[in-house]
Amino acid sequence: MKLYRASNYEALSRIAANLMAAQITLKPDSVIGLATGSTPIGLYDGLAAKYAAGDLDFSRVTTVNLDEYRGLPAGHEQSYSHFMHSHLFDRINLPKDRCFLPDGTCADAEAECRRYEALIESLGGVDMQLLGIGHNGHIGFNEPAEAFARDTNCVTLTRRTLEANQRFFRSIDEVPKQAFTMGIGTIMKARKILMLITGADKAEALAAAFCGPITPAMPASILQLHPDVTLVADEAALAQYHV
Ligand code: F6R
Repeated sequence: MKLYRASNYEALSRIAANLMAAQITLKPDSVIGLATGSTPIGLYDGLAAKYAAGDLDFSRVTTVNLDEYRGLPAGHEQSYSHFMHSHLFDRINLPKDRCFLPDGTCADAEAECRRYEALIESLGGVDMQLLGIGHNGHIGFNEPAEAFARDTNCVTLTRRTLEANQRFFRSIDEVPKQAFTMGIGTIMKARKILMLITGADKAEALAAAFCGPITPAMPASILQLHPDVTLVADEAALAQYHV
């Protein structure tokens, strides 16, 4: 694993934007796996700024997002599709028909999982997958479990994840109870992983993921087996990382 130590969130976001921009510059038709959540917002701002400055071209890029809530239409303001449009897609020249997310409204969950997995395959796989991490070590919506989920799947969210996500809704009852997510196997097939971790509240998860045993009880720990992981983390998040 390659580690970039950032002094704070701004530095982390700047480093991450530079790494993703380098990927796109070197391979303009890259397939980029994207994430939502608070962590990548600074990175998305950085990419939009590079585009605005004329330094980065997204016209040949394709994106696939890690996950989407089940039951929210794409236009819902808490859907991940809406998040991606407002934080990134609407600010850059990424063709609108080249950014893909699971369809949260699909009634047949299994069919949607198969469709999304096949879509990623048909794109030739993911060149660089962006990840954040949950407090419980989840990546995408792959929660701690008895076994690693292989392919895209529909998961029931844990109480802890519902609580963490309730800040975006009026109440916890409004947080969708299920989500579509790339599986651990889907994520592990990406040729490169770019993981961002910020804040003291993620220090325990970071240490468990990268220094602890590889176990589905800590889903991110599987990344220890990936051949090309770049971790960009700030000092607060690295507080318990001792190797
Ligand atoms: C989002 C995702 C999640 C988040 C994680 C951290 O698409 O897949 O795994 O990366 O929950 O979220 P934040 O960044 O809000 O702490």
